Amino acid sequence: MEANLKPQLIAIDGPVAVGKSSVGLQLAKRLGYIFFDTGMIYRAFTWKVLKSGISPDDKDKQKLCELATRTEFDFIPSKEGTLLVVVDGEDVSSKLLRPEIEALVALIAKVAEVRQVMVSQQRKLAQRGKVIMAGRDIGTVVLPRAELKVFLTASTEERAERRHKELLRRGENSSLEIVLADLKKRDAMDINRAISPLKPAEDALIINTENLSLEQVVDKIYTLAVNV
Ligand code: C5P
Repeated sequence: MEANLKPQLIAIDGPVAVGKSSVGLQLAKRLGYIFFDTGMIYRAFTWKVLKSGISPDDKDKQKLCELATRTEFDFIPSKEGTLLVVVDGEDVSSKLLRPEIEALVALIAKVAEVRQVMVSQQRKLAQRGKVIMAGRDIGTVVLPRAELKVFLTASTEERAERRHKELLRRGENSSLEIVLADLKKRDAMDINRAISPLKPAEDALIINTENLSLEQVVDKIYTLAVNV
């Protein structure tokens, strides 16, 4: 059945490992939309920071900001329905889940000047239309005019278990305790940061995914999307 594709922009926000990407990707396939996980742009910039040797702490804020301004980002659709992230001509998509990036990304994403540059990249991308964007501040800051906004939740323990299983599936060795501790640390940084903290937009629909399957969550949002 051809969906009545009304919303040009769908925002999916929520904390670490709540399933935004899995949900967004499946939803994008059903709707024939582009899916973009904005965590990838913060991770791509973190990759660039590590490569450049600039210290990610506050002392080098100005340098971080300059680096963000002169870094060229490009987003190219992949066969899997995601967008590949190209930084200064290099496809870095396969490098972005590395632990050294994971450890630093929330710290870099706290810097207001860096966020400004990343947000303008995300808005430019949204101009393509028919985009599902996932992140922390999509409904509140990046795309406040998105016609449909959802905020996914699940307990910290549930999210840690999901992330742990995913890592094991990918052949990465990590204990549940470490995954849980990292997740709590990143949640705290994302929730408590001064600029664009993780929170639902006032007009977002909150979906607790705890007792729902991936398909059930996708179904819910799909139904909302075709009835906006
Ligand atoms: O979603 P993901 O875990 O890949 O995001 C990596 C980090 O990027 C998050 O922990 C958060 O600090 C930051 N981020 C953000 N705003 C977004 C998306 C991600 O601050 N819209």
